[in-house]
Amino acid sequence: DRSIKIAPSILAADFANFGAECEAIEAQGADWVHVDVMDGHFVPNITFGPATCAAIRPHIKGVMDVHLMIAPVDPYIDAFAQAGADVITAHVEAGPHIHRTLQAIRAAGAKAGVALNPGTPAEAVSELMESIDLICVMTVNPGFGGQKFIDMTSKIKALRAMIGDRPIHIEIDGGVDPKTAPSVAQAGADVLVAGSAVFRGGSVSDPAPYGDNIRAIRQAANG
Ligand code: DX5
Ligand code: ZN
Repeated sequence: DRSIKIAPSILAADFANFGAECEAIEAQGADWVHVDVMDGHFVPNITFGPATCAAIRPHIKGVMDVHLMIAPVDPYIDAFAQAGADVITAHVEAGPHIHRTLQAIRAAGAKAGVALNPGTPAEAVSELMESIDLICVMTVNPGFGGQKFIDMTSKIKALRAMIGDRPIHIEIDGGVDPKTAPSVAQAGADVLVAGSAVFRGGSVSDPAPYGDNIRAIRQAANG
């Protein structure tokens, strides 16, 4: 399914209200919920781990999309799978054995995603096509929400060509808003992560702005 899917990142949500925030964004039209796990080692920020993922799982009806910005990855795969992650994405830069990591993610029962930092070329995943369900193209250097979008159009196009007719999603993560969404959608992305551009202006007690923001991104992406 190549239709545009909007995946709000709860990195921009109220950390004291994750359950209610997840329910609010789904009620306001989110397709997936994007969960950013950071370890203070692979990236210069710390968020939360598998226990938090397990706690929010019952509050998400759709896809729980877990983006691991951690190194090492392998010792934690089973914990995130047991926490209920539908997609587990690991960075190609996070260790020397990405193929083993992807095999372990599928063996744990989740869809396998691979993420590429802005400085990593498309070719880094050319030997992984039979082992992945999703490629996450970072359009910021990972670690923080609210950063400026970095143009990765040529990388997205190269990946779309590399994928061919395989059922692999291309997800864009970082600085996605109604202004940047059209170019990434035209280049071939189908999953758009957005943190600040979804959560700005709203709250769990006033969630209607989430819906307006999600619709604005989706409309821009669909042209
Ligand atoms: C960055 C995270 C992103 C981030 C997106 O390290 O992986 O998911 O939260 O936030 P915005 O949309 O605000 O750039
Ligand atoms: Zn992310």
